[in-house]
Amino acid sequence: MPVRVAVVDKDLCQPRKCGQECIRFCPIVRGGGKRAIYMDEQLGHPVITDLCTACGICVRKCPFEAITIVNLPSELGEDCVHQYGPSGFKLFRLPMPKLGRVLGIIGQNAMGKTTIAKILAGELRPNLCTNSQVSTEDIIRFFRGTELQPYLTRLYRGEVKVVHKPQYIELIPMYVKGTVKDVLMKISDNEEKVTKIAEKLNLTHLLNRDVDKLSGGELQRLAIAAALLRDADTYIFDEPTTHLDIVERLRVAEAIKDIASGDKYVIVIDHDLAVLDYLADQVVILYGKPGAYGIVSHMRGGAREGGINEYLNGYLTSENMLIRKEPIKFRVKPAPRPIQKEKVLLEWTDLTKRLGDFELEVKAGVIHRGEVIGVLGPQRNWQDNLCQAPRQ
Ligand SMILES: Nc1ncnc2c1ncn2[C@@H]1O[C@H](COP(=O)(O)OP(=O)(O)OP(=O)(O)O)[C@@H](O)[C@H]1O
Ligand code: SF4
Ligand code: SF4
Ligand SMILES: [Mg+2]
Repeated sequence: MPVRVAVVDKDLCQPRKCGQECIRFCPIVRGGGKRAIYMDEQLGHPVITDLCTACGICVRKCPFEAITIVNLPSELGEDCVHQYGPSGFKLFRLPMPKLGRVLGIIGQNAMGKTTIAKILAGELRPNLCTNSQVSTEDIIRFFRGTELQPYLTRLYRGEVKVVHKPQYIELIPMYVKGTVKDVLMKISDNEEKVTKIAEKLNLTHLLNRDVDKLSGGELQRLAIAAALLRDADTYIFDEPTTHLDIVERLRVAEAIKDIASGDKYVIVIDHDLAVLDYLADQVVILYGKPGAYGIVSHMRGGAREGGINEYLNGYLTSENMLIRKEPIKFRVKPAPRPIQKEKVLLEWTDLTKRLGDFELEVKAGVIHRGEVIGVLGPQRNWQDNLCQAPRQ
């Protein structure tokens, strides 16, 4: 049974005009006076507690339609696709990519995104959450009647060629040796293609550099170039924008968009909602309890159909599911935090620092206690060197 609860829309609630019948008529009051709904004078609207049984009386009593009953995430009784061992993480449902459309997968950490990538790549056979042996036929039968059935049938027959850009690119130098050009030429001996992809991903100046000397962002672009050079039916990119600055993120997004055509499946998992907003034609949202279970939402449209906005709002309309208590709101200018300007933590004059042939110029500045300092700049610039500089 799904867990259901009443929620108050603060923007619609007008407690001074309504007689507050939502509170008066709520039948749930426990010993000690704890109520399912009470007025929080400081917040200026009613608050609903975990005693709420979702009976719906308050919904009918509110004249301003400020209360609705929503579902809360809870483990499903069916559709469990994979479990990592007894009492391990459970993944419910799988998304089905569509030919020629970029499928974006969004969700908090440890919700099962990489697990989905591995299953759709054929690297991880789902165990259907049973301890007993699961055959290929069992898996295909499990997805009978869905578009995943023909996809997985072809995948397990070896008829779907998959390229999977893994999440952890830091491991690449452990098993790939040589220069950037060596690596790319091993994948495609067509020099023209290699030159083109290197240009597209801003790797041209790095072609003769050894892979083990690359920065995180350069390694990421190399991994993406290597994936794009391959001819495949399914392309899966697990966190392609990690380590990249905004300019490089857009460059990568363009390159991925370019391969999405009528006979390819393209799946992109990322935490950068702006990039997914730009890239994805369709979106699925993973919700649940991080590290415990993840549920794949219905498929929704990308930017134009508000899939990303639903994630930000924390409410999935078609499932009537509240996945977060509060929406994520971006402010152009955040409200200022009080900082005691007299409490100086660090102060410096204009300075120049040399590290080999690299030179860093810093203008005079000051940091106060409690201040949060943002450091911005393009890739392979002074932030990298700042972090690597030995403490003196
Ligand atoms: N081989 C494994 N054995 C046991 N548990 C695992 C295994 N692989 C992943 N998990 C667990 O499954 C959960 C989902 O992992 P997954 O890597 O799919 O999450 P994710 O959504 O990709 O997270 P992130 O955003 O941090 O990359 C996590 O709690 C993880 O610890
Ligand atoms: S849904 Fe029912 S139990 Fe919950 S707050 Fe409203 S009246 Fe009370
Ligand atoms: S939720 Fe509705 S009935 Fe309750 S205080 Fe707000 S406006 Fe009044
Ligand atoms: Mg992951």
